[in-house]
Amino acid sequence: MDPVQRAEELTWYHSLELVPGYVTPGMFDLRGVVHRYGLPERMDGMRALDVGTWDGFWAFEMERRGAEVVALDLDDERDLDWPADRRPDTFPKTPRGAGFALAKETFGSKVERVNRSIYRALPEDLGMFDLVFCGSVLIHLRDQALAIERIANLCRGTFISVESFDPLLNLLPFPVARWRAARDAAVVFWEPNVRAWKGMLTTAGFERIDERGRFKLQARAGWSVRHVALAAHKPGAAPRTSAP
Ligand SMILES: C[S@@+](CC[C@H](N)C(=O)[O-])C[C@H]1O[C@@H](n2cnc3c(N)ncnc32)[C@H](O)[C@@H]1O
Repeated sequence: MDPVQRAEELTWYHSLELVPGYVTPGMFDLRGVVHRYGLPERMDGMRALDVGTWDGFWAFEMERRGAEVVALDLDDERDLDWPADRRPDTFPKTPRGAGFALAKETFGSKVERVNRSIYRALPEDLGMFDLVFCGSVLIHLRDQALAIERIANLCRGTFISVESFDPLLNLLPFPVARWRAARDAAVVFWEPNVRAWKGMLTTAGFERIDERGRFKLQARAGWSVRHVALAAHKPGAAPRTSAP
């Protein structure tokens, strides 16, 4: 079966131009906001980690820029963080990752997808990375600080973190997060303000935290979420991101 026919049978998170003229109907088309994330223009010779890759938009983007890329995600929805009172009774039987696999095959990509939670991602198994990328993942985690600590231990250069924040809490002059698990929407436990995101990065051992900008990430369905792009560096590492 040709890739377009196979793609039409799947549900997509990312809009990916699988073949010239055919774009998968993703929940998010990130092609217009790539410049907001601050990836280095070229990533030749770099080892990069994409945390929470889903269909792999960012992993394939970093590979296109020259990096050797490892992409983490979870094959089984059971392994995601669920608030106890919202945990579904049944889960899909088919493993996740079919969109990623089809895109990888179609692009002839070498990105290695690893079925592993960021909570259990250790340098002993995965090695170290010059750049770790994590977009819209930490916001869905129960333990954001542990995930950032794991990322810090895997990173020998730059961490690019792009996450949503609470605009109301941002008016407060101190780091704070809001409990969101009872909200009837995508699973979010804590929604921090920008100061709290920066504080968590500092606590995990990053320094020189540059804010690359704030923007609204627009879903294809019309709604949008405010995001902040941060670039954090390990002590002694030269900053490796594009100019703001
Ligand atoms: C909202 S999507 C973001 C996708 C992509 N990073 C982006 O920026 O477009 C969140 C992704 O994080 C993954 N994820 C959730 N919990 C995770 C965990 N503990 N470890 C690794 N990935 C996780 C989800 O399966 C999903 O693919």
